Amino acid sequence: MFKGVLFDLDGVITDTAEYHYKAWKKLANDLDISIDRTFNESLKGVSREDSLRLILEHGGISDQISDQKFAELAKEKNDNYVLMIQDISEKDVFPGILQLLKDLKAHNIKIALASASKNGPMLLEKMNLNQYFDAIADPSEVAAGKPAPDIFIAAADAIHVPIAECIGIEDSQAGITSIKASGASPVGVGKASDLGDDIALVSDTSHITFSYLEKVWAGK
Ligand code: G6P
Ligand code: MG
Repeated sequence: MFKGVLFDLDGVITDTAEYHYKAWKKLANDLDISIDRTFNESLKGVSREDSLRLILEHGGISDQISDQKFAELAKEKNDNYVLMIQDISEKDVFPGILQLLKDLKAHNIKIALASASKNGPMLLEKMNLNQYFDAIADPSEVAAGKPAPDIFIAAADAIHVPIAECIGIEDSQAGITSIKASGASPVGVGKASDLGDDIALVSDTSHITFSYLEKVWAGK
């Protein structure tokens, strides 16, 4: 039986993936760079700085942006994003997630956050979910962001569970690659066309029940 569950946040616990997209789209528009939802799939799960790098490369203007301007743009995106998420509360937790957290606790399964977002702790607090998490891996402490495995490994270490006994839940391509590389078992939230057809996949979080995770574990 699995002993730990490692959660991504944006797009798994709540709909903040959409706010990240809106904030990046606004920043890109202001720079005359056009991004769409297909391109956004490559940003999901990726750190703030790496996302900005990808957008500037996409617009072909990476070499025109000084380090200072880069830092200003990253801050501008985050300031805008933080404004958008101010009103997030318990009501915004995705369907099934609260029940899943309660069921995991009842079965003594350890729970950790493995999000690339530096806004993760604040969001968990706003949704009143802190009490369920045994650990929050700090994305600023890991050497490499998703798709590298570091954040999932750090999350498993923080709950003292061997990574091979953990399930990781993700909505992003980078995140699924990260889970696979870490040695945890992936569960994807989304479409096979985005996340691949070689992993356990649900169309939305209401399907990620405790018994679903038991089935995934038994079938791996
Ligand atoms: C998550 C999201 C990304 C976001 C990253 C950094 O992985 O999926 O879209 O860029 O976190 O978030 P932050 O809140 O630190 O800018
Ligand atoms: Mg995500």
